[in-house]
Amino acid sequence: MFEFFFEQSTKKIGHPEFYSRESSLKPYFCQMDSRIPVETKDGSHTLFSERAGEHYHSIFGAVQESEHIFIRAGLEGYKNPVEELQVMEIGFGTGLNGLLTLKWAEEHHQPVQYIAIEAFPLAHTILKKLNFPTLLHVDVTLFTEMHSSTVRRQVTPFLSIHILHGKFQDYQPQSNRFHVIFFDAFSPDSQPEMWTVEGFIKLYNALVPGGILVTYSCKGSVKRALKAAGFSLEKLPGPPGKREFLRATAQKQL
Ligand SMILES: C[S@@+](CC[C@H](N)C(=O)[O-])C[C@H]1O[C@@H](n2cnc3c(N)ncnc32)[C@H](O)[C@@H]1O
Repeated sequence: MFEFFFEQSTKKIGHPEFYSRESSLKPYFCQMDSRIPVETKDGSHTLFSERAGEHYHSIFGAVQESEHIFIRAGLEGYKNPVEELQVMEIGFGTGLNGLLTLKWAEEHHQPVQYIAIEAFPLAHTILKKLNFPTLLHVDVTLFTEMHSSTVRRQVTPFLSIHILHGKFQDYQPQSNRFHVIFFDAFSPDSQPEMWTVEGFIKLYNALVPGGILVTYSCKGSVKRALKAAGFSLEKLPGPPGKREFLRATAQKQL
């Protein structure tokens, strides 16, 4: 069912400015070549997707943004103790959220099972240029292993990972399984087909009662779609460069 793609350029290079990840601040002059990492304001890298016309992370700090939204509000926002935390990510991309989760799982001695969906896997020649393993003091071979885990693999004592190469739209997750979902698609302006009520209903059903979904977008249409799917919403203060982001809870009974 899942197909394998490589990122290809579908848009003409030449736009001088882009807004990054729905930032509430100014436009940013960006790097146009998706093969070359761009340094963000906290020193960590990101990439620019010509297909989406956007960066993969906030240019105000990629690691800072991921830690704030996905680790602090996501992993640490799920308060019920569980033997093994089930995490799903939509849009694995560079693997930054996965790497931060690996680090968190080891530091907290919390077993995590991580499933990520990625339609356009990045080539290893690009991935090896990213500075995340160095900055986060994680062995680069673990980062490489994570990216090649297209069957479930136990990469560290506390983290197992499985990356599904295919489209979110074709993925049918198991019901009532996941505790936390990282929803990290490109923005609703660039990829409206990812932010639909139908897609969010699928994710609502995949969460356990009380399970949470975190995303960087706080757009009106996203809030309406999440609410229509059944989620309860919290607007939380964002990382630098972003006023607010969303945490959505599946308040349901089994
Ligand atoms: C904002 S980037 C993800 C950033 C990523 N979490 C990271 O840390 O690098 C969005 C990702 O979604 C992927 N994507 C785009 N369309 C998709 C689809 N239909 N299904 C699954 N993934 C998709 C892109 O290839 C890209 O890697």
